[in-house]
Amino acid sequence: MAKDRVNVAVVGLGMGRHHLKDYHANPRACAVAICDVDATRLAQFAAECRIPEEKCFTDYRKLMAAAKRLELDAASVALPNVLHAPVTIAALNAGLHVLCEKPMAMNVRQGRAMLDAARKNRRRLMINFSYRFMPQTQSLKSFVASGAIGDIYYGRTAWYRRRGLPGFGGWFGQKKLSGGGPIIDLGVHRIDMAMWLMGSPKPVSVTASTYNVIGARTAKELGKAFDVEDIGGAFIRFDNGATLIAEASWAGFTQKREEMLTQLLGTKGGILHSNVNETYEFEARIFTEHDGALWETKLQQGLAPCPTAYQEFIAAILEGRDTIAPGEHGLAVQQILDAIYKSAATGKEVRIRAN
Ligand SMILES: NC(=O)c1ccc[n+]([C@@H]2O[C@H](COP(=O)([O-])OP(=O)(O)OC[C@H]3O[C@@H](n4cnc5c(N)ncnc54)[C@H](O)[C@@H]3O)[C@@H](O)[C@H]2O)c1
Repeated sequence: MAKDRVNVAVVGLGMGRHHLKDYHANPRACAVAICDVDATRLAQFAAECRIPEEKCFTDYRKLMAAAKRLELDAASVALPNVLHAPVTIAALNAGLHVLCEKPMAMNVRQGRAMLDAARKNRRRLMINFSYRFMPQTQSLKSFVASGAIGDIYYGRTAWYRRRGLPGFGGWFGQKKLSGGGPIIDLGVHRIDMAMWLMGSPKPVSVTASTYNVIGARTAKELGKAFDVEDIGGAFIRFDNGATLIAEASWAGFTQKREEMLTQLLGTKGGILHSNVNETYEFEARIFTEHDGALWETKLQQGLAPCPTAYQEFIAAILEGRDTIAPGEHGLAVQQILDAIYKSAATGKEVRIRAN
């Protein structure tokens, strides 16, 4: 790309406000336009980021129709999951590169259509797997890639919330709008992180179960809609023989209020990424063997920050390279999510066909 700045629009200003603020602070990006059906929210962020009224939209179709006039290069899509595919495809067809929130889509069929649109329009499609963009994760990735823990053959990845049911009556708890519960909302991050650290092996089969116990009970008491799982777990096999256990919950009688961990075992060592004291701070540990002694090494705090997902998206566009979280990785995770729900519904193992 010959330009030195990327003109970007942000669609959806819940999580999207973080996209917007990052672009606004990035000298290589220009937050040109915003879109949200909530006009009050739209006006608030227009004022904060000094975006003129004629570049604020309540209808994403009108934003995409104005893409040329606004000289847009890219869009961030941070909408309820049901809108990821239609809005991403509209943006790609308008000639824009897209950073789409996780999960990529409601299902694999939509994910494939998004990738087809990206290829047809020769535009980048990145998925906001934001947990890759943390210094601990990046440092672990670099350590694993050096071969220091050998080949990873077994792992466990989890995100447990003791009580974290999202606002009842909203889109998160309705399958037709979200695609599922904590598996597609939280599990998606931990599954992605584990697979990325494992070197992106291809998933071949999944056995899973999901439950809706506390969610259903609470929804009934409140008279609200909630038809997704509140907890789920899966056993995933990959083409290289490795296996991964993945778990995610919004509610359960667990010891900890919030627990995240990804433990991967390799032929020469192991790694552990976990949150500290039930918070959103993270630590990373490496387990190795030297001269018959087993070592545990903890990454020290105070690492320099790494580029954010939004900075990576902008940099990849300007540098004419692919991002480190491309749509293809989103589709592989989506295949697992689809298979988890299918296996939970049928009680059977689900085979995943190669892309
Ligand atoms: N990467 C992460 O760590 C992370 C964190 C939180 C949420 N997310 C993802 O971000 C997405 C949005 O989640 P959220 O928590 O911001 O939800 P939210 O409901 O808080 O915000 C969604 C926003 O989209 C707007 N909206 C809804 N329909 C619209 C439409 N047709 N056109 C324009 N705007 C519309 C709403 O008014 C709202 O402002 C989800 O896919 C979620 O999974 C990702």
